Amino acid sequence: MKIFVTQNELSNHLIPFYNDKSTIGFVPTMGALHQGHLSLLETAKQENSLVIISIFVNPTQFNNPEDLKKYPRTLQSDVEKIKKISTDIIVYAPTVEDIYKGKTVSEHFNFDGLENQMEGKYRTGHFDGVGTIVKELFKIVKPTNAYFGEKDFQQLQIIRKLTSKYKIPVNIIGCPILRETNGLAMSSRNERLSSIERKEASIIYKTLLEAKTLFKTKSAKEVMNWVASVFNENKKFELEYFEIADEDQLLPCNRKNKSKKYRAFIAVFVNNIRLIDTISLN
Ligand code: PAF
Repeated sequence: MKIFVTQNELSNHLIPFYNDKSTIGFVPTMGALHQGHLSLLETAKQENSLVIISIFVNPTQFNNPEDLKKYPRTLQSDVEKIKKISTDIIVYAPTVEDIYKGKTVSEHFNFDGLENQMEGKYRTGHFDGVGTIVKELFKIVKPTNAYFGEKDFQQLQIIRKLTSKYKIPVNIIGCPILRETNGLAMSSRNERLSSIERKEASIIYKTLLEAKTLFKTKSAKEVMNWVASVFNENKKFELEYFEIADEDQLLPCNRKNKSKKYRAFIAVFVNNIRLIDTISLN
């Protein structure tokens, strides 16, 4: 199994694959791999002749230094999990120096307003950091297809915008959210929850499902008020935001428009651990 830690080594290794017109499937991650990541790898494996996964905890996308410090780094066990899918998958696990060359700062992006909603409001600079690293990784890997989970739906739309604005020739493929048996969306952060918190975190998906039912007959405002009341009654889970927005522009739904596709988005804190989730509403 090939593991590269520098872009030079990776780029040299990839030259013959570009020449023989292989399709390259790319799964960018920050490691601490769970079943959700592995399903992205499986899909990439089915659809491409070569698969590359990057494992890099990108410092510029963390607005909270404590979150960056505590982010799980588990390269050894990640590699074991990848091997179980296939030893042909190439791992790119660079250092911060290899990516940022001594200047660990973000480029500033205009994603036509997508960056100002939800996660962008609460995590200042987050999408500049995501844009910076994903643009750089695309430049290094030059993938044919790149795979992202729909849990980070806003990120997915921003990456689509990034590739269209910068004319990066890659297909962006959004993949469905994988859930634990109680409905909790799979996330590397779930590892930091106690077993009780993890069980009780089912409240997030249960609330989204109920919101979806309510949205059939109620306005977005009424659904938002109901969600706020659920979390007012549950002091263990602190609601950061619940939003109903259209999928394309991610603008809050003030009045329902039949021609638009809507989604509910939620961010919740439990014991200082931030969990997000989303569901399609129509
Ligand atoms: O979704 C993630 O894990 C990260 O935001 C990404 C896309 C790998 C960029 O660091």
